[in-house]
Amino acid sequence: MLNLKLTKNTIMSTTTYTDFQEQILQGIPSDLPVKRELSKNANSAPKRKDILSIEEKQLAIRNALRYFPKKWHETLAIEFAEELKTFGRIYMHRFKPSYDLYARPIQEYPATSKQAAGIMLMIQNNLDPAVAQHPDELITYGGNGAVFQNWAQYLLTMQYLATMTNEQTLHMYSGHPMGLFPSSIEAPRVVVTNGMMVPNYSKQDDWEKYNALGVTQYGQMTAGSFMYIGPQGIVHGTTITVMNAFRKILKVTENPAGKIFLTSGLGGMSGAQPKAGNIAGCITICAEVNANAATKRYEQGWVDVLVDNLNDLVVRVKQAQENQEVVSIAIIGNIVDVWERFDTENIFIHVGSDQTSLHNPWSGGYYPVGLSYEESNDLIRNNPSKFKNHVQESLVRQAASINKHAAKGTYFFDYGNAFLLEASRAGADVFAENNIDFKYPSYVQDILGPMCFDYGFGPFRWVCTSGNSEDLDKTDAIAVKVLTEIMENSPKEIQLQMQDNITWIKNAKSNNLVVGSQARILYADAEGRAKIAEAFNNAIANGEIGAVILGRDHHDVSGTDSPYRETSNIYDGSKFTADMAIHNVIGDSFRGATWVSIHNGGGVGWGEVTNGGFGMLLDGTEEADRRLKNILFYDVNNGIARRSWARNDEALFAIKREMERRPDLKVTLPNIVEDIILKDLF
Ligand SMILES: NC(=O)c1ccc[n+]([C@@H]2O[C@H](COP(=O)([O-])OP(=O)(O)OC[C@H]3O[C@@H](n4cnc5c(N)ncnc54)[C@H](O)[C@@H]3O)[C@@H](O)[C@H]2O)c1
Repeated sequence: MLNLKLTKNTIMSTTTYTDFQEQILQGIPSDLPVKRELSKNANSAPKRKDILSIEEKQLAIRNALRYFPKKWHETLAIEFAEELKTFGRIYMHRFKPSYDLYARPIQEYPATSKQAAGIMLMIQNNLDPAVAQHPDELITYGGNGAVFQNWAQYLLTMQYLATMTNEQTLHMYSGHPMGLFPSSIEAPRVVVTNGMMVPNYSKQDDWEKYNALGVTQYGQMTAGSFMYIGPQGIVHGTTITVMNAFRKILKVTENPAGKIFLTSGLGGMSGAQPKAGNIAGCITICAEVNANAATKRYEQGWVDVLVDNLNDLVVRVKQAQENQEVVSIAIIGNIVDVWERFDTENIFIHVGSDQTSLHNPWSGGYYPVGLSYEESNDLIRNNPSKFKNHVQESLVRQAASINKHAAKGTYFFDYGNAFLLEASRAGADVFAENNIDFKYPSYVQDILGPMCFDYGFGPFRWVCTSGNSEDLDKTDAIAVKVLTEIMENSPKEIQLQMQDNITWIKNAKSNNLVVGSQARILYADAEGRAKIAEAFNNAIANGEIGAVILGRDHHDVSGTDSPYRETSNIYDGSKFTADMAIHNVIGDSFRGATWVSIHNGGGVGWGEVTNGGFGMLLDGTEEADRRLKNILFYDVNNGIARRSWARNDEALFAIKREMERRPDLKVTLPNIVEDIILKDLF
């Protein structure tokens, strides 16, 4: 139990406590709260694997009871054992607070440190039921992206944040607040690690076991780092990908209208594809086997047309082609059937991809062709090995059909969902002639890597802590002004990116993508990020807007080492190392971040990626101005330096430019070896 001295003057802006503030300051309540029944309509996390031995289950209960006084142990031990049996994890549902969880205006948080109040706002946003996937289980997205492992960790963390000073740092181990340690005003207020394992203990079942024991968690990327901003993040990234995929294959005089982008999945992230396709200006066709998921996206207005059979699809697609339409069409059905039918109908697909969840192929991430949705779900439960065979046969068929289209000229790319990896494991014809590489590129190898990350462009984001949409409008306008000025003197190599980002930010409000906090995402490079942030800080100082929190997705230039995704376009052999992500989190932490995080897992799976991020509160002070310049410059250029050392042309260009811009930046540059020197050596 904590021993914190609470004083009424910890409240920032109000003189009387609200119930919400009282509860935050109390941490673990002094009276045992009443047991909560979960709502029948709750979107609960799937039951996790029953992986612990009896002794380990006892250990899990012993671990959970550490948070509570002895007098409750008998009652809670029975309840937690029941949770472990029912859910495979101990979430401590009884301790979920009674107040609503959402991003309140910053002044409503009880806190002595405004930086800490900003972090509280971000935590609550990640747990807002409008934002979070499984809010009762503290999961923000991705099925397993946890903010905390249990509600006791949440209560203690909020209490620590409410009472800490600017000379303390809260250290968090996978959701568990280890405690407040004396530090300095220069240090981050919070240091987060999620899922960091001794390397040999980082397999899927290790996560199941150690998470069930209550000693680690899967933080995904922006779930456990409190930086999730709802679906707009993914819409922007997907738009950039689709837009640039068309640019790769079209003549400068052509545009994507009336041309087809065929893909699959209308789930969490994949559901952004039709909206992104509309913004990119093409015909998007998206197959989704789950009728509920497809209907939900249609009702939300994220896809324009919904059909439930191939005949109607073919008619509607031909009409769209004839009229050069910009339209998105969802078909309730299997993607393999669509690829095959378009081949027999001779419908030319300009761009193709796939966003089924093949990072999770055997338990519902991918539904095989030839089985109904219900039949598949039945096999997953009752005959997993038969289901696995169906999945592999389906992948072989899908790849064969994609190959036929590719032979006619379709540009196909892997969307970071392990499609090519699983297809290759299934024996599909997806290898290049050298039998090592795949015959199709990943979206980072061909598009996001060379066109964005290597130049430093990545998913910069900010949150207006006042909660006012007018503040967000003002920040949008500031960003447009800053980028337009920068673009006037930008080299031709990045003019296209600058223009795309100006177009995005000008239309951002009308795309209506804010869910939860007043947040915005905008791809920008080091110069753009710092100049925009500087202009925000000035506007805060002048009283035009309230405080702003800066951050970014981990899926960025420097924060993530992931050999099949973010760093898949690194070709010097170093893509299996994780030095860049580790340097980034250490480097950001002493350059001014308000909080930093480093995670194992995220997107591609436990053990497959190391990724990190930061958050920073801008409060209009000179101090914030100094820090933002320091951190944003390093946070981008660390990755450009590594990418240029890997001999990536675009990064070499970018880092030389940065060294001209900042003469105190000195980066080791590679000497390029002629092929002829190596040819006859061995
Ligand atoms: N959008 C991005 O920018 C991005 C980036 C990197 C990776 N990814 C990857 O994309 C994948 C999808 O992510 P998500 O959050 O949308 O997952 P999700 O599980 O929520 O959605 C996938 C959808 O695919 C559907 N599906 C499965 N098999 C199908 C089939 N054969 N035909 C038609 N539909 C089928 C499922 O019903 C499900 O709704 C993940 O592997 C993710 O890591 C996405």
